[in-house]
Amino acid sequence: MMRMSSGEILSHKKYGDAFHSLTIVAPDIGERVVPGQFINIRCGRDRSFILRRPFSVYRVHKRGGWASTIEIVFDLRGPGTRYLSELRSHSIVDLMGPLGRGFTLPKNRAHCLLVGGGIGAAPLFFLADELRNDGHRVDVILGARSSRLLLNPIDVRRLASVYRITTDDGSAGEKGRVTDALSEMIDRCESDVVYTCGPHPMLAAVAGVCVDKKAPVQVAVEELMGCGFGVCMTCVIPVRPGKSRRGNAAEISYQRSCTDGPVFNGASVVWDAATDIVSSGQSELSPGGTPARQGVVVDSTGEHAPPGN
Ligand SMILES: Cc1cc2nc3c(=O)[nH]c(=O)nc-3n(C[C@H](O)[C@H](O)[C@H](O)COP(=O)(O)OP(=O)(O)OC[C@H]3O[C@@H](n4cnc5c(N)ncnc54)[C@H](O)[C@@H]3O)c2cc1C
Ligand code: FES
Repeated sequence: MMRMSSGEILSHKKYGDAFHSLTIVAPDIGERVVPGQFINIRCGRDRSFILRRPFSVYRVHKRGGWASTIEIVFDLRGPGTRYLSELRSHSIVDLMGPLGRGFTLPKNRAHCLLVGGGIGAAPLFFLADELRNDGHRVDVILGARSSRLLLNPIDVRRLASVYRITTDDGSAGEKGRVTDALSEMIDRCESDVVYTCGPHPMLAAVAGVCVDKKAPVQVAVEELMGCGFGVCMTCVIPVRPGKSRRGNAAEISYQRSCTDGPVFNGASVVWDAATDIVSSGQSELSPGGTPARQGVVVDSTGEHAPPGN
């Protein structure tokens, strides 16, 4: 059920010079949200902000209902994130959520490897907290283009039993990409499941390595979104949900990342086709623009139960 609410900004801080964080008093959302779900925020009052902007929940502090808070982190992209960056304590924001389907946590005690890239790592911090609270082991690979775009590496050291940091330019951690460390980390940490969120090419590469290593992988995609609640079809991605009843490779179905996702089984996403959609969509579409893929037939019944249980 779609829920609208308003939240009061408790604090606005910065992580390094690249990322802003807003902690919002939002008990309705804080008490119900699970890792991997997102909220939609109205980023201004005028007509150019009719479409809300989606943000992952980065952290939750449950305080017994009436004062629970959620935290989001973001970098500056355009007018919506600029608006958010100007909010201060006691400002009121218009929220919708929690939205989408989050990560599935393991039922039995498991070794969980979290792989995050840039600001895309945001939902993995909430996930790491929940996994640790449930008694699972958490290992992390955190990557970014450069050190200033690494999201909260200090916290990663606290959360992870084993961690690796990578940057494309070598300005922090190892020079290279998260996938350079992935195969070895899966072996070393005896990972039962991999959870990942980040830029689209990174997700495709991580899913590819996991499929080769036969490691279950849950990916949280960040597709461009229009409505955020299943109506506009802006956010569809191609998914092949395994074998059909006759044992043939199943047909591709287009699933809405806002309601069927944003978490999908990484082995089921058809990454080549998804990349084509993303590259054609991104040039012409922003959440403030016109939804690009209207009319795509969506099969929301296709199963894509995330693995790792
Ligand atoms: C499920 C989900 C969770 C997200 N979580 C976060 C988060 O935790 N922190 C965060 O900083 N951002 C997150 N995003 C992206 C965030 O929604 C965009 O940064 C934001 O909408 C940009 O709004 P804007 O008005 O500032 O910029 P716009 O003017 O709307 O866009 C500026 C530029 O950013 C690009 N952009 C917009 N949306 C996305 C997107 N979804 N993915 C990649 N590029 C995009 C546009 O193509 C454009 O080039 C998430 C997106 C989704 C779908
Ligand atoms: S964003 Fe509108 S259907 Fe997903």
